[in-house]
Amino acid sequence: PSLARILSLGDIEVVARQTLSSKAKAYYTSASDDEITHDENARAFSRFFFNARVMRPVARCDPSTRILGFNSSIPIFVSGAALAKLGHPDGEANITRGAAQTGIIQMVSSNASLSYSNIMDAAVSSQTLFFQLYKHANDTIAAQRVREVDALGYKAIFLTVDAIVAGNRERDIRNPWELEDEEKGAPTYWSENDASEKEVDGMGTAGALIANDDRDMTWEKTIPWLRGVTKLPIVIKGIQCIEDAVLAVEAGVDGILLSNHGGRQLEYSLPPMEVLYRLRQKCPDIFDKVEVYIDGGINRGTDVIKALCLGARAVGLGRPFLYAQSAYGAPGVVKAVQILRREIVTAMRLIGASTVDDLRPEMVERVDWQPR
Ligand code: FNR
Repeated sequence: PSLARILSLGDIEVVARQTLSSKAKAYYTSASDDEITHDENARAFSRFFFNARVMRPVARCDPSTRILGFNSSIPIFVSGAALAKLGHPDGEANITRGAAQTGIIQMVSSNASLSYSNIMDAAVSSQTLFFQLYKHANDTIAAQRVREVDALGYKAIFLTVDAIVAGNRERDIRNPWELEDEEKGAPTYWSENDASEKEVDGMGTAGALIANDDRDMTWEKTIPWLRGVTKLPIVIKGIQCIEDAVLAVEAGVDGILLSNHGGRQLEYSLPPMEVLYRLRQKCPDIFDKVEVYIDGGINRGTDVIKALCLGARAVGLGRPFLYAQSAYGAPGVVKAVQILRREIVTAMRLIGASTVDDLRPEMVERVDWQPR
C-alpha cells in the first residue's frame, strides 16, 4: 500500500513483515525464549490509564523537548538497532534522512551496517546523532571506537549494559543466517568482530555480533574509564531495576535508559514502563538528577505520553524504525514520525497539556486489571 494509506505504526509493521527477507524478519522480530518480556513490554502500557484534565487551553500545543540539551521535535528518539541494511539497501542512512526531515535524534548502533562516518555523511549539519556503544573487551580497541565517533561529531554515548551475552533467540537459531558482504558496511568493526565466522551458542551471526564485548564491566571500573576517554554525555542503556538506576546515578552518568533490549536479552526482565513506575514511586528525586528514558514496546502516542507523565524525558523506538525504513526507505521513517507526532499532540490536548512540562505523574494511574 502507498504511504498515504498508512495510519499507524502497526500498519507499517504489517507491510514490513510482508516484504522483509526471511533472515531480516527473523533477526528484527525475534526475542528471547517464549518472548514473554517482548510481548509484555507493549502490554504493560495498557495497564496505565489517564486522569485527563479538561478546560485547559490547548489550542497551541508544543510537543518539542530537549534530550541531553539537544532539540527534539517530539519526545522520542531512535533506539540504536543493528543491521538496517538487512531490510533496505540504504540502511541506517534512511533513518538519518528521515530524522533530519522531522527533527528527531537517531542513536546509531555499534553494529550499524553502514560505517559511522557514512551515516554522519547522510546527516545535515544541524542534526544530532547519538552513538550506542558496545564496549569491546579490549579497552584500547573500545577507546578507539569512542574517540572515532566523538571526532565524527556524535553527541552522546549510550553504553549498552544488558547484552554481555546474547539472549536465547530461537528464531535466529532455527533459521541460521549469514551476512552478505554488502550487508555490512563498517569495515573496522567487522574485522574486529569477525562476525561472519564465529558461531556463538548456536546463534551464528546474531550471537557473533557481540562475541568480543566486555563481560566484566563494573560501575567502579567502566564508567571512570569511559569518562576518561570522552567528554561526551554518557547514558547507560539497559537499566532493568531501580537499584541499578540508583547505582548509575551514583556513578555520575548523565542519563539512564530503562530498557530490556526489546525483550531480546533476559526473558522475564520487567517491562521498562513498570520499572519507570517503580522508580517514580520509590526514587522520585532521581528524575531531578539525571534524564530518564525508556524503550521497548512503544507503538502509540499515548504510550509516549504515559512515560512522560511518570517522568521520562523521552522514549526510544527500535523495531518501528527498522520496519519503516525497510518497507518504505526514508519516507517511511518520516511517516512514522508524523504518525507519532499526530498521536502525541492529540493525546496531549485531550489530557490537558500544551507542553511536555504540563505532563504530571497525577495524570496517569496504574490499574490492577489487565484490559482485554
Ligand atoms: C536491537 N537493540 C539493540 N540495542 C543496542 O544497544 N545495540 C544494538 O546493536 C541493538 N540491535 C538491535 C537489533 C534489533 C533488530 C532490535 C529489534 C533491537 C535494542 C534496541 O536498541 C531497543 O532497546 C529495542 O529495540 C526497543 O524495543 P522495541 O522498540 O523494538 O520494542
